[in-house]
Amino acid sequence: MSTPAAPSGPALLLGAGGFIGSHLAERLLADGGRDVVGVDLRPEKVRHLLPRPRFRYLEFDLADEARLRPLVREAGVVVNLAAICNPARYNTTALATMESNFLAALPVVRLCREEGRRLVHFSTCEVYGRTLASYAPAGSPLHDAVSHVLLSEETTPLLLGPVHRERWCYAAAKQLLERWIRAEGRENGLRWTVIRPFNFIGPRMDFIPGVDGDGTPRVLACFMEALLRDRPLRLVDGGTARRTFVHIDDAVDAVARMLDRPAASEGRTFNVGNPANEVTIAALADAVTAAWVRRHGRPWPHTHEHVTSLEFYGEGYEDSDRRVPDIALARELLGWEPRVPLADALDRTLAAYEEAYGSLVR
Ligand code: UGA
Repeated sequence: MSTPAAPSGPALLLGAGGFIGSHLAERLLADGGRDVVGVDLRPEKVRHLLPRPRFRYLEFDLADEARLRPLVREAGVVVNLAAICNPARYNTTALATMESNFLAALPVVRLCREEGRRLVHFSTCEVYGRTLASYAPAGSPLHDAVSHVLLSEETTPLLLGPVHRERWCYAAAKQLLERWIRAEGRENGLRWTVIRPFNFIGPRMDFIPGVDGDGTPRVLACFMEALLRDRPLRLVDGGTARRTFVHIDDAVDAVARMLDRPAASEGRTFNVGNPANEVTIAALADAVTAAWVRRHGRPWPHTHEHVTSLEFYGEGYEDSDRRVPDIALARELLGWEPRVPLADALDRTLAAYEEAYGSLVR
């Protein structure tokens, strides 16, 4: 039997110490309506929040059910952000990726169902995989017919690449968990909301290799590292892939609205992204160097370097060609609108990186 709902209990953020979690915690504390309990394995990104009276931070592995269950029981809402979500790891550590995104996330879903608590789960825009257009020759009638279609939560098919391209194991694990959550809702009454983030960017995103992490972060952190170390930015496979980037302040505003409006958001999956901020990765590299030029008042001295995906990521990588979210659902049900233009988001992110890391030029 599930225990009665505790809507006034704290927001329990699992993975609070990550980029999104740290911003969401900040936002919820600023709103002031609820206490926030954060769980993670490392506190660096929420260290500045530790003295706040309405924030409680606990450090343990989510596999520790004995510690997790009482927190879920006392929570008003559980937000699960904990996961490996770095493409450089999908093809190199596929087992850990699937473990993290499915097996380790499943007990959280079950705990929420058993304790009768609302779950807001972070999935990914990557569940959409590749566009249908990417399978059709450029210029063919099929390509032209489908190339401008927005990705919509309730109508767009999910087109993952072949199994020997391990990159898609992440999206497959996320997709299966989405289906599981939905089934828990239909068959066992779980109250749920799923979020598909489309390339959130901003301060505290990822890490700088060799400073506060190892390996290859996502693209904007790669570009920030190059700017801080005075090295060329690297474009994978020509930088022709396209992405839409949304500033983290806009993104957490959407999440805060979901938490505040359970009736509008329960049983729903939401794209959270900014369709107005679409660029190719090559154009992103130009835009981020333009931000550097605006800030420093002198020309950026390097041209971009080209690298193949095999050299950059290794065997098993395959790219998402294009991901433009349809955000009609978030607009209609949450009254949400992303506002920060790309150039502004890049200026603010670069300033925050320079403040956090300084120049890394040797
Ligand atoms: C990733 C995750 O897989 C998603 O879960 C997540 O939702 C998404 O980021 C996100 O941030 O929301 P992806 O957009 O492919 O997906 O991640 P990036 O590593 O940022 O790559 C974006 C593009 O930049 C790819 O085409 C990649 O090949 C390219 N890239 C990356 C470069 O051209 N240069 C670099 O130095 C790094």
